[in-house]
Amino acid sequence: MTTITHHKTHARPSAVSTAHPMQPFWAELVEIQPEAPGVGTYWLQFKDDGLRSSYHFQPGQFNMLGLPGLGEAAISISSSPDAPQRVGHTIRYVGNVTNAISRLKTGDTVGVRGPFGTPWPMEKIKGQDVVLTAGGIGLPPLRSALFTIMNHRQDYGRVVVLYGARTPQDLQFTREYKDWEKAGIELMVTVDRADDTWTGSVAVVPILFYHLRVNPARTIILTCGPEIMIRFVIFEALARRIPPESIFVSMERNMKCGLGQCGHCQLGPFFVCKDGPVFSFDQIQPYFNVENL
Ligand SMILES: Cc1cc2nc3c(=O)[nH]c(=O)nc-3n(C[C@H](O)[C@H](O)[C@H](O)COP(=O)(O)OP(=O)(O)OC[C@H]3O[C@@H](n4cnc5c(N)ncnc54)[C@H](O)[C@@H]3O)c2cc1C
Ligand code: FES
Repeated sequence: MTTITHHKTHARPSAVSTAHPMQPFWAELVEIQPEAPGVGTYWLQFKDDGLRSSYHFQPGQFNMLGLPGLGEAAISISSSPDAPQRVGHTIRYVGNVTNAISRLKTGDTVGVRGPFGTPWPMEKIKGQDVVLTAGGIGLPPLRSALFTIMNHRQDYGRVVVLYGARTPQDLQFTREYKDWEKAGIELMVTVDRADDTWTGSVAVVPILFYHLRVNPARTIILTCGPEIMIRFVIFEALARRIPPESIFVSMERNMKCGLGQCGHCQLGPFFVCKDGPVFSFDQIQPYFNVENL
């Protein structure tokens, strides 16, 4: 059995740094792609030429996006790490900052700090089968990992995406599903509530595991979504004898500094902004009880 050890990376802006880590870099909003009702992808390009050409990130990392006078929100990078000159963020409009972002137009300016946090362990899982399991707005950080897999397809074994949304209209990135399948990625999609057009599965995401046969010795789980979904995904994975160190979870907590300084995002002894958001389950198991499901 392959054992995966998850080493922490404390990724920081790759080239240019401001005098103060809380000071943002300015980026232009160059394109807006509606994804689903209340969700859109915002493509940003740094105004500084040097930063634009030197910025890079790893799948699973996030930026703090800010608007003057309104504050910041942690948003995962949903685009390809192999094309970092334009950085995509897929955003659900839920509160102060994200609703204000929904009113922006191309040409407007957004403050960006990042990239922050630990990435999905794309190097260490080479040669393994990968099951990416997402619910709702949990898909964007996994889409970034999917780009890495598609751009280096021969490095990974069987790849399966299990994805669920509330309704068929809420499914994100539907225009890309054919490309994923062409790249040999198996896709299983489910919704909580069907409509007249829907002929697919109606169930919660963890139920998709019932249709999946995995080899636990060579299967890696990457999962992101609502915490209740993550708990059931872990439960199903452990039930299939996938070891805790092969299960990787992206955690969500309220964030403020993104720098491991303010304590807002604490999870046991960890700061999610700095030690996460991606953790292997064996790291966080004591603070994440799935036994009582
Ligand atoms: C590592 C990480 C990655 C993330 N990636 C993404 C991503 O890719 N895309 C994405 O859309 N989100 C992402 N999030 C979530 C996002 O950071 C939060 O939703 C963030 O709080 C949004 O900021 P906001 O100012 O718009 O919302 P806030 O104003 O902070 O509101 C957040 C939540 O609180 C509720 N709320 C707000 N005000 C009140 C009130 N007065 N009373 C009760 N409830 C209230 C809102 O309904 C909402 O559910 C990520 C979070 C983390 C930690
Ligand atoms: S957001 Fe401040 S410590 Fe994590």
